[in-house]
Amino acid sequence: MADLSVTLGRMRLASPLLTASGTSGHGGEMAVLKDSEEILSCLGAFVTKGVTQAPRAGNPGVRVAECACGMLNSIGLQNKGAEAFAATELPGLLAFGLPVVVNISAATVEEFKTLAGFLLEADRARIISALEINVSCPNLRQGGAAFGADPEAVGAVVRAVRSAVGPDMTLITKLSPNVTDITAPAAAAVEAGTDVLSMINTLRGMAVDVETGRPVLGNRIGGLSGPAIRPVGVYMVWACFSGLEACRTGRVPIIGIGGISSWSDAMEYVLAGASAVGIGTAWFLRPTVFADIHQGITDYVNRRGVPFRDLVGLAHRDAGASFPSC
Ligand SMILES: Cc1cc2nc3c(=O)[nH]c(=O)nc-3n(C[C@H](O)[C@H](O)[C@H](O)COP(=O)(O)O)c2cc1C
Repeated sequence: MADLSVTLGRMRLASPLLTASGTSGHGGEMAVLKDSEEILSCLGAFVTKGVTQAPRAGNPGVRVAECACGMLNSIGLQNKGAEAFAATELPGLLAFGLPVVVNISAATVEEFKTLAGFLLEADRARIISALEINVSCPNLRQGGAAFGADPEAVGAVVRAVRSAVGPDMTLITKLSPNVTDITAPAAAAVEAGTDVLSMINTLRGMAVDVETGRPVLGNRIGGLSGPAIRPVGVYMVWACFSGLEACRTGRVPIIGIGGISSWSDAMEYVLAGASAVGIGTAWFLRPTVFADIHQGITDYVNRRGVPFRDLVGLAHRDAGASFPSC
């Protein structure tokens, strides 16, 4: 059996495969997982859907729309709020026997700080292994533009969350692709003390129904996910790995997310610079996706005869250098 273990911040994961936030709920919706040894044994960590301080009803329907090579969603961060999450949903995640990453969203820097502090305080059983900061949400103090589009705001959020949780909690900053240069917010997050970067969140998009002449989604604008966005995600991982020394040296590893539905999609991200990968939309279509990808990566690593971790960022090697074991 190939060793696919990875270290992300202070987390040691047996597998580089993670659920992508928002695509497996808060665990309760996925109660079926706790009896599915086949899936759990392939996962390195469970990443929750976004949690906000106050409960949110989410956006009006229609909330999802299929499109060529992907889907649009505008769920609107529906969740029960931090208090109910900590009391009723978080304990259930223990049954998965996996490190738990809680994805957090807020509308101001102060709210991010309060939310992170609250969750850690409420987590008496120490179930949370890491917080993933979703900077794709609108910054209300800055007219509603996403935090992720403003490197200064990204830095402020990461610093605020770090100050609330102390040095021992692993922080993952999840970057938005809706920017001109992804390395600017990435560098700001690294500078502010993130342990890990994850990318990408959904790309802003919309669909119009030509019969009604109206936007398909109730919220009009949504986020595009699925195979269509993979080349964007792979490029952004590539850009951060080559542009940031912290990523290149492995001090701040990258979780590659976006359109992964096969082992070769996952390996594309790894070769571009990701140490681990998140899988979302493909999981809606194929319950066996994690097992298939885990098996495919295992076979690839065995075939190449190279430790998995040595494959991270290999596509950046000098022109002329051969692929290991070729
Ligand atoms: C229905 C849905 C809900 C999502 N909710 C969240 C969320 O709460 N927080 C977050 O950071 N990302 C959220 N995402 C983004 C995914 O985690 C992921 O970054 C994106 O879908 C790209 O990966 P994929 O193509 O494998 O789905 C959501 C995506 C979908 C499709």
